[in-house]
Amino acid sequence: MKNSLLKKQRKIQLKNKTILLGISGGVAAYKTVELARRLKDEGASVIVIMTDAARNFVTPLSLEVASQNKVHCSLFEDPMAHINLPASADLMVIAPATANIISKFANGIADDLLSTCLLSYSGKLIIAPSMNWKMYENRIFQSNLKKLVSLGIIQTGPEKGVLACGEEGIGRMSEIPDLIEIIRSTLSKKDLKEESIVVTAGPTREYLDPVRFISNRSSGKMGYALARAARNRGAKVTLISGPTALKTPDGLNFIRVETTDEMMIAVKKNTTNTTVLIMAAAVSDFGPAKRSEVKIAKAKITSLDLRQTTDIISEISRSAQRPFIIGFAAETGKNISRAVEKMKKKNMDMIVFNDVTEPGAGFEVDTNRVVIINRKKKNRLALMSKDAVADAILDSFIKTKT
Ligand SMILES: Cc1cc2nc3c(=O)[nH]c(=O)nc-3n(C[C@H](O)[C@H](O)[C@H](O)COP(=O)(O)O)c2cc1C
Repeated sequence: MKNSLLKKQRKIQLKNKTILLGISGGVAAYKTVELARRLKDEGASVIVIMTDAARNFVTPLSLEVASQNKVHCSLFEDPMAHINLPASADLMVIAPATANIISKFANGIADDLLSTCLLSYSGKLIIAPSMNWKMYENRIFQSNLKKLVSLGIIQTGPEKGVLACGEEGIGRMSEIPDLIEIIRSTLSKKDLKEESIVVTAGPTREYLDPVRFISNRSSGKMGYALARAARNRGAKVTLISGPTALKTPDGLNFIRVETTDEMMIAVKKNTTNTTVLIMAAAVSDFGPAKRSEVKIAKAKITSLDLRQTTDIISEISRSAQRPFIIGFAAETGKNISRAVEKMKKKNMDMIVFNDVTEPGAGFEVDTNRVVIINRKKKNRLALMSKDAVADAILDSFIKTKT
């Protein structure tokens, strides 16, 4: 996969957004270098402010390289910075947020550049607290934190785990991918807030006996990306997932299933009041004709009788109050006409075609190259991240619907 092309496509997500990134003096400050770089990669303009204490943990030069912007550390170097920097920001993020900066802000204290910028800023603010668990659980600190959250400030983390001091407890800063996700979500346009969307993802398993099954290579990455993107854009989302190794996304209704029948039941139950069904799951097309309750002896299996599984899309598209249906066609080869036929035969509204044999497309990878097809036209997209493909599919849904 060509890195430069992927970078270019990722820019779609945070393009033209200015993020004011405040770094205060906690041990997790070094992680923020990676955060600045990732935000920059996604097309954001990143402006970093560091406290004096933060400079003990990471150098302004590292942040300057990562953000490709001047790093601001002093209240008095540029007399208008504390007003102008917040005024230019679409979003302010403090990561890590020390007990000190949180408590200062909760009490209106402005005694350095970062705390003064916080007071002159009135937009969306995300804080990522990170500290020793005893500091985090301190009652005075907790009341300061609660005050900020009650005023609409978005808190992410901290998480439980081994802390820098070697102790275990709550206090680890949110992981960088989780921070990126909440930043994307906070900055996303909310153009799907009228929609209630069911997304299926991952493979299904059809059991031969308690230990053996027929399945496929689906990782679930495309479906999870769609569920996250729809949630970020304001939709009410239910994610019905087959077995995957992926982290369950926050802020949506998550249903875990294993077999095609279980997925069918979950889809039927959850699509009664749904506006859109996105079938990104790779449902097993067939399974063993019989499921044994006990493990079958190896010597007894010489051949396998198969049965076809239920076709979930056809079942749902027949119902009277059917949602808008988006399906997927994973093919080996450029057989787009088969995808068009499948869309018509199963009465879908849109189908997303991908050739899983193409480099960077299909199973397990983080990228995809798809053709989005509706009843009127085909839109061929370049190789891009699955997150960017998800947004393109949702954009296409909005255009097709209206
Ligand atoms: C080695 C070391 C690690 C520290 N780590 C943290 C931390 O993770 N979180 C925190 O809230 N404070 C931590 N502190 C304390 C802060 O650095 C201290 O409260 C400082 O005044 C914070 O200033 P600032 O909020 O202006 O950056 C640490 C201090 C030391 C010496």
